[in-house]
Amino acid sequence: MKTLLIHPQKTPLRGTITVPGDKSISHRAVMLAALAEGTSHIRRWLPAGDTLATLTAVQSLGIPIHIEKTSDTAWELTIEGQGLHGLRPSPEPLDLRNAGTGLRLLAGILSGQRFPSVLDGSEQLRKRPMGRIIRPLTEMGADIVAGNGRVPLIIHPASLHAISYRMPVASAQVKSAILLAGLYAEGETRVYQPGPARDHTERMLRAMGATVQEADGWVWLERPESLAPLDLTVPADISSAAFPLVAAATVPHSQITIENVGLNETRTGILAMLQAMGAAISVQNERETGGEPTADLTVRFDELHSADIGGAIVVRGIDELPVWAVAATQAAGDSTARDAAELRVKEVDRISVLAGELQQLGIDITEFTDGFTVHGPVRPSGGTADSHDDHRLGMSLAILGLLAQNDTLVHDAACVADSFPGFVETMQALGASMEWVRG
Ligand code: S3P
Repeated sequence: MKTLLIHPQKTPLRGTITVPGDKSISHRAVMLAALAEGTSHIRRWLPAGDTLATLTAVQSLGIPIHIEKTSDTAWELTIEGQGLHGLRPSPEPLDLRNAGTGLRLLAGILSGQRFPSVLDGSEQLRKRPMGRIIRPLTEMGADIVAGNGRVPLIIHPASLHAISYRMPVASAQVKSAILLAGLYAEGETRVYQPGPARDHTERMLRAMGATVQEADGWVWLERPESLAPLDLTVPADISSAAFPLVAAATVPHSQITIENVGLNETRTGILAMLQAMGAAISVQNERETGGEPTADLTVRFDELHSADIGGAIVVRGIDELPVWAVAATQAAGDSTARDAAELRVKEVDRISVLAGELQQLGIDITEFTDGFTVHGPVRPSGGTADSHDDHRLGMSLAILGLLAQNDTLVHDAACVADSFPGFVETMQALGASMEWVRG
């Protein structure tokens, strides 16, 4: 078990950094390139715990992948796509470890194959709800056996037909699983999203020549004959950038720049949520990378005030709510997040675990069914906390530690590499006082 030691930060954070590639895009790039007709090139691919689980699963399905380890945090992949019908059965169950995105999206693809598959994962993933994909995929004709709506999933060969499906929650994983099954379904597959779920699957399918359209909350896919290979550079993950962003917004006199961050508008909720508190964030050098809008972000410390957030902004920043709560500890007044019940079915119940760990570190936080209120401003006490094997909670607690009166220990912190390999080194490059104490 690895433990992170964080000292109270006494000096400003300064510098220009990059953070690793986007996790959502990295998962999708490997899966979709596998289905392409020909060779795809992916640069700045994220070698994190979650995405590596997807890569290994795709290799087990018979896809040759050449890996060039350009650095510990960015790989270059050459993927020999075998076409829509070129996957081969895996001799072993596919183990997606903690990767919910990997598992749910692969379930969509594998539902339409002519061979059976077994999808499994870690104890953590075995607790997460799969009914949300099993229901629509079964409606499309998929033959999926699962005990109590949980993994392992046993997927038998089936022929699929298109459906029109109204998602009860705005989930990009559910939308993507259905659209990917739609690659194998007779007819036009349509999904209604009740909120702005991230659209990386749609963008990537379009870049590969598929026709994906959207209007009035509906997204629909015409079944393509084939997919063209990808040639893309993965933008830096805004979900990872969120940690140094919040650190620099809250450690006095800091100013940092994070380069080439993906600013797809379905993902920028954290910027809006921090700006609602008065955070000084500016966007420069706007351009496009890999079919996604990107830019450099500069943030400098400023006094924060409380904010109430809910609705679409929460969908656009759902993964960043734990670190937003850390910013809220420094804001004058009560800051409330609502409409965030989905947090309860992430890697862990991110509302109750966040509240428990923050309280442990001296923060006054009230929990609701669909959110929380942080009563700020308050200097965290420091002490001992635990990530509960949740990467985003581990990193949020580390950022909180920088603001504390005393040292903070975050136990079970190796999981930060599930999405952000090099998190500690990146924070250290900005001058942050944190280090690993047990390897
Ligand atoms: C993801 C979608 C979101 C997000 C997750 C990644 C994706 O989950 O929380 O971290 O890559 O599609 P939901 O689809 O469950 O909202």
